[in-house]
Amino acid sequence: MTTSNRKDKKIPAKNQSKKIMERKIEHLKIPLEHDVQHSQNYFKDIKLIHHPIPDFDFEDIDLSIQFFNKKVSAPICISAITGGHPVSQELNEILAKAAEEEEIIMSVGSQRAGIEDRTLLDSFKITREVAPHTPIIGNIGIGQVSDPNFEIKDFNECIEMIKADVMAIHLNILHELVQDKGDISYKLFRDNFKKIREKHKIPIIAKEVGTGFNPDLALLLDKLGFDGFDIGGTGGTSFAAIESKRNNFDNQKYSRDPADVFKEWGIPTPVSIVYVRNVSQKLIIATGGLRTGIDIAKSIVLGADVGGFAYKFLQSAWQDRKQKSIFNTVKEIRTLKNELQTCLWLMNQESITNLKGKRDKCVVLGDLYRWLNQ
Ligand SMILES: Cc1cc2nc3c(=O)[nH]c(=O)nc-3n(C[C@H](O)[C@H](O)[C@H](O)COP(=O)(O)O)c2cc1C
Repeated sequence: MTTSNRKDKKIPAKNQSKKIMERKIEHLKIPLEHDVQHSQNYFKDIKLIHHPIPDFDFEDIDLSIQFFNKKVSAPICISAITGGHPVSQELNEILAKAAEEEEIIMSVGSQRAGIEDRTLLDSFKITREVAPHTPIIGNIGIGQVSDPNFEIKDFNECIEMIKADVMAIHLNILHELVQDKGDISYKLFRDNFKKIREKHKIPIIAKEVGTGFNPDLALLLDKLGFDGFDIGGTGGTSFAAIESKRNNFDNQKYSRDPADVFKEWGIPTPVSIVYVRNVSQKLIIATGGLRTGIDIAKSIVLGADVGGFAYKFLQSAWQDRKQKSIFNTVKEIRTLKNELQTCLWLMNQESITNLKGKRDKCVVLGDLYRWLNQ
């Protein structure tokens, strides 16, 4: 992402727009065609405690939660994946339709493309068109919010574009650095965020994209006025690993590719959930390496409210795109719900609220234990 010149806004140079679109499609294809997952998934180090006689029937388990001002059927979020390309439009339509049908939370990818090039707006707008009741999370980067030319109306535009219920500001500094050293000055972030906060009542969450939050920053962001966190810790998709598969001439000037060297960098998702929950009582979406409903249960036991999935839904939506359906995505959501419900039954917990923060219902082993007990 290169810092934009305001004069160029909405009429991007043809080759700049082409570059953004090329990057969007590469970001979608690389995780599907290469292994760009972190080598270690720390959820494996958590064991949930089994309880052999449940006090209630399986069907009576309540997975529903309140997500800000809307109720959802289960604590599941389709994480920010895409927007800004005709293929993104197809994927966003599939994901949003499935979210509406299954009554879960939907996120769009970075809306910067839509702000800078109006021809790309529909790839975001489609989500609200097909999912009128779904809580939709908008997305803008720390790079845009920290830009000296940042204007509040850009933020308004993101909300308006999809009638967002919640906005996420993604913090992707490692990604920016290994991508093309685009937006890498964040000194204005706090001041610009304060301007947004003064102007807007909409819930705003701070979102990492695969490197996690430490407790000091979480506390600072809580005090600054953020309404929640999307953990985005290590254990799942690594954006540095994605960049290591792209042709980056800037990185070729070094004897080792920084994107490859830093692909394992970051704080594991379960560790980051605990770090954040220890300093903040606000909403936590656990993202980064969640692959089953058991991982949602593990996240909730550690103190999270919702489980977020990018890679799994990218896979299902890609299949759906080929089959012109929403079948695979709906099936994935139902599978996650069934797995989560099974966990609750096997742990004798009748509702998600009961499970939240019950750290005595799990045992932490291995490397994760060392992280948490240092
Ligand atoms: C193809 C792809 C594109 C993504 N684009 C964005 C984005 O635009 N904004 C954002 O905040 N996160 C983005 N992410 C990060 C995800 O929302 C999520 O935090 C991360 O992939 C970890 O989750 P996972 O292990 O389930 O993939 C993207 C992830 C993928 C796989």
